[in-house]
Amino acid sequence: MKKKVGLFYKKNGSFNNAVITIDKGIIRALDISKDDNEIIFTMGNGEILLKKGKSQDEKEIKDIHGDVTEYIKNTTINFSKVYKDKDYYVAKLNIPFSIVDTFKITKDNNEVNITTGDGWVKIDRKERIGKVYTLKVNKGGIGKTFLTVQLAHGLAMQGKRVMVLTSDSQNNIIDFTFPEEKQEAIELKKGLRSWVMTGKGDKIKLRKNLDFIPLESSLFTPKFLERLPVFIEHLKRDYDYVLIDSIPTMKIDTEFVKCSDKIIIPAFCDIPTLKGVINVIEEAGINKIKGIIINLYRNTVTQKEIMLKLKNILDQTDVVFPKPIKETSIIETLVKKGKTVWESRAKAVLDAQNSLLDIILEM
Ligand SMILES: Nc1ncnc2c1ncn2[C@@H]1O[C@H](COP(=O)(O)OP(=O)(O)OP(=O)(O)O)[C@@H](O)[C@H]1O
Ligand SMILES: [Mg+2]
Repeated sequence: MKKKVGLFYKKNGSFNNAVITIDKGIIRALDISKDDNEIIFTMGNGEILLKKGKSQDEKEIKDIHGDVTEYIKNTTINFSKVYKDKDYYVAKLNIPFSIVDTFKITKDNNEVNITTGDGWVKIDRKERIGKVYTLKVNKGGIGKTFLTVQLAHGLAMQGKRVMVLTSDSQNNIIDFTFPEEKQEAIELKKGLRSWVMTGKGDKIKLRKNLDFIPLESSLFTPKFLERLPVFIEHLKRDYDYVLIDSIPTMKIDTEFVKCSDKIIIPAFCDIPTLKGVINVIEEAGINKIKGIIINLYRNTVTQKEIMLKLKNILDQTDVVFPKPIKETSIIETLVKKGKTVWESRAKAVLDAQNSLLDIILEM
């Protein structure tokens, strides 16, 4: 999320103070309230980190140019009443002048990136250039949507901002992230087409740090295809990752692949799928393949043989090839409930989590 730092000056033109508004998301992440508002404000590596509590030592170290290199101070989030007689508060945080200066924040250039996690809030000025991954295989029902959701949520849980897009107007992503009774209330009207053509639309918050833009229809005008890359570039400045759940028969898929840094191929251990996998590798070039994940694996003689064949082909390459994800009833049940594998503590899910992490850590 981007936020603006408000800069205030005195009548004589000298700097008075700099503030950012603290929204509900930040308050929740820090677990603070009006009466419990002490935080530790640290800076280092060009990042501000906020945490609840009080630090024993406070310090501020500057380099010879006056830029702050290390900063630890105890401070508070200020809650102030908007109306005298109403219990309605706004929360604000003061940013010290030395840090405003170090961050080169000015009236015309005052945006910062905010990332929230469990118990912390990060503020930085780094230009975000997100990476784009398409999940693609020329075969249905292998787990493209399933794996898109699991990888996306895994990245989001590491504090990354993740956007999921799809070229499938069935928007199955919703089925994998919400229980059935909650799905109906979700607005799917203004999706990717609207965003690309008008710059506005709906974003569905799947989880913390994880958004989804649905696809409202599978009819695309040449104008849409032409403008799609511009929109994806725009997303890359706001998200660390854009993951695309594709259906390979569509024209839009070619565009998505063009916009992608890398492709991740879901695979199944039968001959037709193996051929499909090789097909994608040949089409895109081996250098564009980030990883191949075997899904719905059963430990049969045939499947093992095909798995080893694939392993052999990939041995001399940089393609990540984790242990196959097994077909299990526990995953099936999780999916049915609209939960991800990261929301289960079952031992049987651990293997799948590990395989996904193998890829996530390389993404
Ligand atoms: N490891 C697994 N164990 C059990 N069931 C799984 C597993 N992975 C996927 N599934 C189930 O398999 C089905 C197909 O998965 P998914 O919908 O992700 O495939 P897809 O490639 O996106 O299909 P489509 O081509 O129709 O878009 C889903 O119903 C999902 O719940
Ligand atoms: Mg799908």
